[in-house]
Amino acid sequence: MWRAGSTVTASSKPVIELKNVTAGYYTAEGFKTLKKVFKPAITKIDLKVNDGERLAIIGESGSGKTTLLRVILGLLPPLRGDVVVLGEQIYRVPARLRWRITRQIGYVPQDPAKSLNPRLRVAEVMAEPLARTDLSEKEKAERIRDALRIVQLHESILDYYPSQLSGGMMQRVLIARAIVHDPEILLLDEPTSALDVSIQAQIINLLCSIHEKLELAMVTVTHDLPVAQYLADQAVILYRGTIVEKGPMEEIIAHPRSEHARLLVTSYLSGLNGLDRINRAEGVSAGIKRETQR
Ligand SMILES: Nc1ncnc2c1ncn2[C@@H]1O[C@H](COP(=O)(O)OP(=O)(O)OP(=O)(O)O)[C@@H](O)[C@H]1O
Ligand SMILES: [Mg+2]
Repeated sequence: MWRAGSTVTASSKPVIELKNVTAGYYTAEGFKTLKKVFKPAITKIDLKVNDGERLAIIGESGSGKTTLLRVILGLLPPLRGDVVVLGEQIYRVPARLRWRITRQIGYVPQDPAKSLNPRLRVAEVMAEPLARTDLSEKEKAERIRDALRIVQLHESILDYYPSQLSGGMMQRVLIARAIVHDPEILLLDEPTSALDVSIQAQIINLLCSIHEKLELAMVTVTHDLPVAQYLADQAVILYRGTIVEKGPMEEIIAHPRSEHARLLVTSYLSGLNGLDRINRAEGVSAGIKRETQR
């Protein structure tokens, strides 16, 4: 089932391409008229993610990170610009074909607790992405078992309801659901921010090993520079809906060019935040580095 190896080669093709994309929301304005006004959340975004690449989208709250993911997922048509996923302009094809393309994306939403239906057992949650496929029941069960094994959860979890899961287990279930249909692309929206610091390190290690095993493109949204450093090689920094910086992660940290990136890097280097806190609290820094630098 799973593809082997994960080296990004010179022949890597783009799996996501955004060209001059502006997207946002229509909000009702005016007490009497309730006129709909378009408010952009992301403006003139140019972005490319190659096959097998790890990209971080870094930005503070409200900078448009989730909006950007919704556009890539085919859920929010842009006002302007082109969105190409796996070689297809997803908003220029019929909705049915768009779904067939975007279903090759695995998605871990921002808030684990809110995104799981409390009435569905883990077995039903895991089966969702496989529902409209040609797989037999036996093959579906195998895929679910494989995905649970990858996220290191015991099969007995299939009988659980979300309320019976810890935050870390819930996040592992969501990651398993995102990879169960063997996607080409994995989108992670703040994958560690709802978790305790000790669990954050485990999830980061898990995501690094998933990227290595499954050879997929991985896009991680975060407001936390250290998390981005562990989970990505390339980065873009979003500020108020526009990209103010893009390039290799280490290059941005060593030589931030925009004022906003400089502020972000300075505050990261001068204070302990994100993974530094974890390293201090748990002494797991060496473990994470070993895993990520393999
Ligand atoms: N459904 C919506 N309707 C109207 N405005 C919205 C909607 N969702 C987001 N926005 C607005 O769009 C802007 C970008 O929001 P978005 O959720 O993309 O930011 P974000 O970077 O993901 O923030 P956070 O880190 O808090 O999750 C914000 O100003 C937000 O208020
Ligand atoms: Mg968000």
